[in-house]
Amino acid sequence: MLARKLSAWLTWSASLAVAQSITSSSGLQLDISVANGLLNESTNGRIEVLFAPQGTDPLDDTDVTSSLDYIYGENVQGLISGSAVTLAGGSNLTTRTGVYGWPLVGLQDLPSGNYSVQAFMNIYETVTRSDGSVVSVRFPCGDGAPPIGGYGSLLTTISDIEVSGNEQTVSLTFNDTVLAGEFNGSEIGGCSQGNYVDTEFLKYIKIRSDALSTFWGREMYVGATVLLPFGYNQTDQSTRYPVLYHQNHWTANQGAFRYPVANFSSEWDAGMINATDTMEARETPKMILITFRHETPFYDDSYAVNTANIGPYGVALNDELIPHLDKTFNTIGEPYARVQEGGSTGGWESAASLVFRPDLFGVTFTSYPDSLDFHRHQDIPLYDSANAYVRDNGSMIISIRTFENDTQVNLATVAQENHWELSQGTSSRSFLQWDIWNTVFGVQGYNNYPLEPWNKVTGEIYPAAVEYWKSFDLSNYITSNWGGPKNLGEVLKNRIFIYVGTHDDYFLNEGVLEFQKRVNAKGGDGWTNVTVLEGQPHGGNYQRRTTWDFLELALQWVEDHAPDGKTPLSPDVTKASSRGNDWTEVIERGGRQAAVARQSPPALTSRWGGVVATAGRWDPGVVLEAQWIVNGRPTASFPVQQGEQIRFESHSRWQKGQAQLAVTGRKIGYGDETRYSNTVWARL
Ligand SMILES: *[C@@H]1O[C@H](CO)[C@@H](O)[C@H](O)[C@H]1NC(C)=O
Ligand SMILES: *[C@@H]1O[C@H](CO)[C@@H](O)[C@H](O)[C@H]1NC(C)=O
Ligand SMILES: *[C@@H]1O[C@H](CO)[C@@H](O)[C@H](O)[C@H]1NC(C)=O
Ligand SMILES: *[C@@H]1O[C@H](CO)[C@@H](O)[C@H](O)[C@H]1NC(C)=O
Ligand SMILES: *[C@@H]1O[C@H](CO)[C@@H](O)[C@H](O)[C@H]1NC(C)=O
Ligand SMILES: *[C@@H]1O[C@H](CO)[C@@H](O)[C@H](O)[C@H]1NC(C)=O
Ligand SMILES: *[C@@H]1O[C@H](CO)[C@@H](O)[C@H](O)[C@H]1NC(C)=O
Ligand SMILES: *[C@@H]1O[C@H](CO)[C@@H](O)[C@H](O)[C@H]1NC(C)=O
Ligand SMILES: *[C@@H]1O[C@H](CO)[C@@H](O)[C@H](O)[C@H]1NC(C)=O
Ligand SMILES: *[C@@H]1O[C@H](CO)[C@@H](O)[C@H](O)[C@H]1NC(C)=O
Ligand SMILES: *[C@@H]1O[C@H](CO)[C@@H](O)[C@H](O)[C@H]1NC(C)=O
Repeated sequence: MLARKLSAWLTWSASLAVAQSITSSSGLQLDISVANGLLNESTNGRIEVLFAPQGTDPLDDTDVTSSLDYIYGENVQGLISGSAVTLAGGSNLTTRTGVYGWPLVGLQDLPSGNYSVQAFMNIYETVTRSDGSVVSVRFPCGDGAPPIGGYGSLLTTISDIEVSGNEQTVSLTFNDTVLAGEFNGSEIGGCSQGNYVDTEFLKYIKIRSDALSTFWGREMYVGATVLLPFGYNQTDQSTRYPVLYHQNHWTANQGAFRYPVANFSSEWDAGMINATDTMEARETPKMILITFRHETPFYDDSYAVNTANIGPYGVALNDELIPHLDKTFNTIGEPYARVQEGGSTGGWESAASLVFRPDLFGVTFTSYPDSLDFHRHQDIPLYDSANAYVRDNGSMIISIRTFENDTQVNLATVAQENHWELSQGTSSRSFLQWDIWNTVFGVQGYNNYPLEPWNKVTGEIYPAAVEYWKSFDLSNYITSNWGGPKNLGEVLKNRIFIYVGTHDDYFLNEGVLEFQKRVNAKGGDGWTNVTVLEGQPHGGNYQRRTTWDFLELALQWVEDHAPDGKTPLSPDVTKASSRGNDWTEVIERGGRQAAVARQSPPALTSRWGGVVATAGRWDPGVVLEAQWIVNGRPTASFPVQQGEQIRFESHSRWQKGQAQLAVTGRKIGYGDETRYSNTVWARL
């Protein structure tokens, strides 16, 4: 009886959500219902509807550079079996969420034609984190967090439809759930981070992270995939190996260097390789190769640092998982024998891991990293530009390019890529690239989600939000801690090796050059070792070496820096005092308490009998509307800017009364909020 009543109430609140979501009834309307038994509890999430050329699988081609799909998304609340939601219209999101599509914003814009259509729903769970922030996010489970159609998503079957261009309603039904893969490993934690079966050389490790579980208020795990060298003997504790930490995206059941791939696997397992130049047989490098599995509620990996939005992943990987690995395997547990390495996302992770933890790691061989210096965030001059999408001279900033016959061909602009992401998630929840940068580099917004550095629709940059990124701008961080307790000028000297090509597909060469310029300006040429290869695009190993040559280079570095090597790594440069990215500081500066503390209400002051007001302090990007309240009666509202001085225009020299200012703030992803000033006596 009680259960019936409850579900009737839930259906009622679901229909309320439906009513609110209708923004336009012109053109195409999608009625999406949920089959019986599929959702037994009121559920929040985001619906994505894909329209693909008829006869194709809509999931085949959702990429920004090649998409033939039209993608439409909308956040939904309180969905449950038996309820339905209507998607219609759509417009640029400014202060409210509704349908937002890519490449065309509204459903009314979808060209008439024949399509294969399929809808998905990402299920969001609402969690309260240890700093008091509350977010609704999807927790991936062993699938590397694909933006659409990941584990646990609802889906409809693919329907062939003809869109007429006239008023039309298409009905779709969620009647299936994407199931987790088959995980056969024996570790803890179910499908979280995957769970694979060990082979002779490849071992899968997974631990519960105390730090992450505390932060997220639920069980959280991190994993490592460990590739052991030929001849490794677990019982022989006296033969110990250096470790190469290969940072990368989600690697599923493959280890470092995408093991097992082609000849790498067979040569690794046989313990012998042929030298590329002489073809002489020689032994494979004797190192343990480790890659992490750390899919998160925002991306397929965490960026391997402590952040206010995804939590203490630096602690989880470096202070929980690595000690566990050092206990489990015959590693040399010393900084000189821990090499960081990776490209792109993994490039940034490898650099940040060394820069923040010179006490733990010895060196990084970083390839084409995500921006090390935000003077160029890809190609955006983030500190100097007013807009992330358009330059001052009106040209669009490019995000993805390729080269044909040495001529640059542009594949996507920053605007296109951000709008494509926005169709797949609001509040930085698309599981895509620009959003994860916002999540990692930014602090929490007052709405608990990442404080975005620019307006995702218009590209307008918010300098006050960008300011918070500076602790993840690695050249800013290094040069700010050059001397002092961290002493990074000495500590990191000769330990950072970077490679990038001049034709990097994502302009990542620009950030590398900015980084090199700033750190070497302080430390002298060669303080950091940067290789820029002419004409090379994004990809490959460090300096485009073959895998074997690269591994031998890394091993040589370890041998040279061992206590009995040519240039031993001094204990002076691996002191605990050189640590950075401290979790307590990160969450104090960027978590819920800080977001609350930086807000302030509007304030009035009475001056020379007149009244001057400010709108108070709000998060960057909040659109404000003010209203005088005179003797308790509201007057007409008017737009105001943060920081603007507002004067109360008095009309009477003699009559006095009470004046107060009410300011309402609106921003996409934020609840509307009205704040009231103090009240003062004023000439009316
Ligand atoms: C919902 O409840 C029905 C009836 O108890 C059950 O058969 C079904 O498996 C449940 N579905 C889910 C997703 O839990
Ligand atoms: C859909 O396909 C049918 C059959 O090929 C064709 O007659 C019709 O014109 C197409 N509709 C649109 C809107 O292109
Ligand atoms: C979903 O509905 C379609 C169309 O009615 C049907 O073909 C399919 O088998 C259903 N799927 C499930 C899992 O019931
Ligand atoms: C689990 O085992 C099944 C059957 O042997 C196999 O097909 C599947 O690929 C395995 N899954 C994983 C993730 O290893
Ligand atoms: C492994 O090491 C142990 C301890 O040193 C030794 O007794 C054993 O013979 C080794 N096994 C192999 C296969 O070499
Ligand atoms: C495998 O070896 C061949 C011949 O040495 C080489 O051309 C090829 O690039 C190698 N493949 C991989 C994946 O390393
Ligand atoms: C190494 O080279 C020898 C001949 O020099 C050849 O027989 C052997 O197949 C090669 N091995 C690999 C793994 O390429
Ligand atoms: C605008 O400025 C950029 C960067 O300086 C330059 O590459 C581009 O050619 C300029 N475009 C126009 C239309 O002047
Ligand atoms: C590049 O050169 C090839 C061969 O000369 C030519 O076929 C092709 O069209 C060129 N591509 C571009 C983008 O100019
Ligand atoms: C949405 O905003 C974009 C970027 O500012 C603009 O190009 C586009 O015309 C707008 N579309 C609609 C439907 O308002
Ligand atoms: C930079 O590092 C590479 C790879 O270790 C090395 O070959 C090169 O000599 C170094 N360059 C300088 C200027 O030290």
